Amino acid sequence: MEKERIIERIMELKEKRKAIILAHNYQPPEIQDIADLRGDSLELSLKASQTDAEVIVFCGVFFMAETAKIVSPQKKVLIPVAGACCDMANMLPPEEVVKLREKYPGVPVVTYVNSTAEVKALSDVCCTSANAVKIVGTFSDKRILMLPDMNLARYVQRFYPDKEILYFEGFCPFHHMLTPEEVLSAKKAHPKAVFIAHPECQPEVIDLADYVASTSGMLRLAKELPYEEFIIGTEIGLLYPLSKENPQKKFYHPAPEKMLCPSMKKTRLEDVLNALERDEFEVILDEEIRKKAYQAVKRMLEIV
Ligand code: 13P
Ligand code: SF4
Repeated sequence: MEKERIIERIMELKEKRKAIILAHNYQPPEIQDIADLRGDSLELSLKASQTDAEVIVFCGVFFMAETAKIVSPQKKVLIPVAGACCDMANMLPPEEVVKLREKYPGVPVVTYVNSTAEVKALSDVCCTSANAVKIVGTFSDKRILMLPDMNLARYVQRFYPDKEILYFEGFCPFHHMLTPEEVLSAKKAHPKAVFIAHPECQPEVIDLADYVASTSGMLRLAKELPYEEFIIGTEIGLLYPLSKENPQKKFYHPAPEKMLCPSMKKTRLEDVLNALERDEFEVILDEEIRKKAYQAVKRMLEIV
């Protein structure tokens, strides 16, 4: 089937099935273009909790679709590519959280949404890269345990010198790989450009950043700031919406080959059509786990 026909079919089925298509900012351009909402993890989970659609087609990685199911259990949540996983979420098994809770009794556990439903179910509250600093600030405790991203934890630590942010040593391979040398070389090549980093980057990279933001935070900054040139320290997919929304501005990437999340690139228009035609692949969660995970996600959504 040709591309236009596939899109037409997707739109017909979407209407018929009262479905909504959500896409993360890193998804391929043609997927972003057909989505009802494109956004960062926080915007997408908020939308999933508020929509009156009957079916949510989630174009992203598995933890994102799972989060949609956690907040909207009565809806059918479909992920067009079953094997689209987040390498960071896969680093932390629930048994490890149990062990850490035993090691640090009474310490609140703040878990990045880039985690499995089982891990969320063992957490006190969730956070995303857009609200992690705010969420941690709601605790008066001196010690907080952040899971599973050590780089996000070390970024949050900068805001709370009086607290000790404990962490699990997980990371996003694609953000963690960006080196300060690559950033310095991009800055040298583009001396007028402002550098914006994602908090999943290493502390040495964050030190070089003019701004630190979530993916949608980067989109807002690019639009609002008066500068013309930007070096973008996040997954390469974000350059598409950045350039589309700001055609007069220039965006550079310090390590385009390395910072590419393969799972985010798997969704094709055919997969979205298949999801709507055959209900593939439905996200099913154990209700006990979902309910516990919901408490942690709900607490986050009440704070933001
Ligand atoms: P955002 O919530 O900033 O979009 O980040 C999600 C993610 O997976 C970053 O790698
Ligand atoms: Fe996970 Fe990293 Fe991919 Fe984001 S870019 S979905 S953190 S593996």
